[in-house]
Amino acid sequence: MKNYIIQNISQLVTCSGFAAKHGKAMSDLGIIENGKVVITEGVIRFVGSSAESFPVENPETYEVIDAQGKAVLPGFIDSHTHFVFGGYREEEFAWRMHGDSYMSIMQRGGGIYNTVNATRAASHEALKSAAKSRLDKMLTMGVTTVEGKSGYGLDKETELKQLRVMKELNAKHPVDIVSTYLGAHAVPKEFSERTYTDFMLSEVMPQIREENLAENCDIFCEKGVFSTEESHRFLLKAKEMGFQIKLHADEIVNTQGAELAAELNALSADHLLQASTQGIDALAQSSTIATLLPCTAFSLKEDFAKGRQMIDAGCAVALATDYNPGSCFSSSIPLTIALACIYMQLSPEEAVTALTINAAAALGKANVIGSIDTGKKGDLIILEYPSYKFLPYHVGMNCVERVITGKGVSGFYIPHKLLDKPSRQK
Ligand code: NIG
Ligand code: FE
Repeated sequence: MKNYIIQNISQLVTCSGFAAKHGKAMSDLGIIENGKVVITEGVIRFVGSSAESFPVENPETYEVIDAQGKAVLPGFIDSHTHFVFGGYREEEFAWRMHGDSYMSIMQRGGGIYNTVNATRAASHEALKSAAKSRLDKMLTMGVTTVEGKSGYGLDKETELKQLRVMKELNAKHPVDIVSTYLGAHAVPKEFSERTYTDFMLSEVMPQIREENLAENCDIFCEKGVFSTEESHRFLLKAKEMGFQIKLHADEIVNTQGAELAAELNALSADHLLQASTQGIDALAQSSTIATLLPCTAFSLKEDFAKGRQMIDAGCAVALATDYNPGSCFSSSIPLTIALACIYMQLSPEEAVTALTINAAAALGKANVIGSIDTGKKGDLIILEYPSYKFLPYHVGMNCVERVITGKGVSGFYIPHKLLDKPSRQK
């Protein structure tokens, strides 16, 4: 593992904090001008001004990086993705552009069911190799932690296959992977909603606990998929089994998913395109993160979630990509930031908070990642520009010049140029 001294940082954006930031606090980025960060064995040991001295043991083991003219931020956290999947759905995208709806395609046996068939048919190795390439791309955009969901198997064998792929990748890839069981993504044709929920609870989830394959459970709480009542029953039981819980909530139709998430103290309620003012207020008063996925609204040609209203109401908002083969085939962090600022009226400061410390909180990890604070994991990014304000301004473009992760490199698994691009100043 490499040790780093990063100094003369024009703008050190620490996002300092160990818990989610709500409402106005989302604008506070904890900026240090002419900053310095010291990382020893993957852990942040010093955060301050370049003028301060911080003697290190064995200085010859440190790479010294001059970040003059550059901004440094915490690594981005993509807290909602479905990046392990088989097959693609480019036909469905074209149909949607001609007026077909996401739900009607699913009701005809396409949509999620289409990807379920392809994922069941894919070998473990094929899924793993595709997922690894996707992770490599995420890393170039500054993602140092990604959440990945199962949910394209529905049967026990394929759900476990997806989760095992993520566990194996996590052991080797510099991007940290946090796994979520999303068996409750759709009801398989041979089950009723109730019998499938019972099957997940009794047959699949105990095995996931035993193999330690997922920290979180998620459910697609949506009209025509899982009802609010069944979601309530499922999530309560999941909590009892020791899972942290998340919801796909109020995405297509309002089913009071936001209210349910707040009531159950879920880690996050995600999508929220159709959340009501009452739902937003319920989230604002809870510790549940409102995770917004603007690339999905964009791809589905739906109205964006009310991000501005949520922050003004006091919610803690996170941003994520929702990378998946159907509703949003994009893992673009630059596009996520641009859409959040341009269409949801988030400020650049709020967008940064939403992709760092609040995204960490959406995974229950705000105490270890999501900010540049002493003691946290040494995940950070160096931009090719002197200010975080370039992130939305350089619309849809990647400003990340270099990524440093606290996880270290395992042999030659990741191409060195992706992990640690040499500064173009040198
Ligand atoms: O978050 N809405 C449910 N799940 C995903 C889409 C999955 C898919 O279409 O394959 C989402 O949008
Ligand atoms: Fe999703």
